[in-house]
Amino acid sequence: MKLVILGPPGSGKGTVSEQLEREFHFLHVSAGELLRNEAAQKTEEGQKINALITVGKLVPPEIIVALVKEKVKSKRKYILDGFPRSVDQAEMIKDLSIDKVLYLDVPDELLVERFTGRRVCKQGHHSYHLKYLPPKKAGICDYDGSPLLQRSDDTPKAIKERLRIFHSETKPVIEYYRKKGLLMKIDGSPLPEIVAQNVKEILQKLDPKL
Ligand code: AP5
Ligand code: MG
Repeated sequence: MKLVILGPPGSGKGTVSEQLEREFHFLHVSAGELLRNEAAQKTEEGQKINALITVGKLVPPEIIVALVKEKVKSKRKYILDGFPRSVDQAEMIKDLSIDKVLYLDVPDELLVERFTGRRVCKQGHHSYHLKYLPPKKAGICDYDGSPLLQRSDDTPKAIKERLRIFHSETKPVIEYYRKKGLLMKIDGSPLPEIVAQNVKEILQKLDPKL
């Protein structure tokens, strides 16, 4: 099963994807994480990506499409987290034949608290929330033992830009998949364990052998 998960910044895309990775062994491909790894390389392209991410702008489609396609080559069970997030990206991955697109719907006013409480592990793959999803040991990742940090693009200015881009560039992608009959809208407002349970039930109905 090939899934996409979309939603505004801070809606819980990464959190739901991590859950599906742990329980059902989906390969979790986070577009943001792929780009942060590239940005950490001190190459010219890495610096260009870093400059865009820091201010909350989208990187050029050819860069992220190539990174994602390389990651999913010959894989059949994965979840693309935060990708595609523009209609041109969606057109560029038609060949992947995505099965379903999950849209985590969360009103903008709930997102602020999610950003302020978010902590991510230094390895970059696991996220927590000080109130809603705390680690077992304060400041330490449950899975890889690395320290928990705040993301460098979780600044008020970058968050405002990421939200603006979600509404202008990514909402049309949601409409694009709705028209193709692939969209499943999920209420992302309840507590993390409830959202995860709802997603699991939906997927198990689609494929009981998951
Ligand atoms: P990316 O890393 O994808 O950032 P984003 O889309 O802004 O989303 P976030 O990762 O901030 O939020 P999330 O939805 O994963 O929420 P999370 O699960 O962490 O992208 C970063 C940047 O990379 C972009 O701005 C852009 O520059 C670039 N980029 C990425 N993809 C690109 C693309 N396709 N094309 C071009 N450029 C691209 O949850 C948030 C917090 O809330 C956590 O603390 C979590 O514990 C908590 N939480 C989760 N669920 C709940 C809940 N139900 N109740 C309460 N708290 C919850
Ligand atoms: Mg994320």
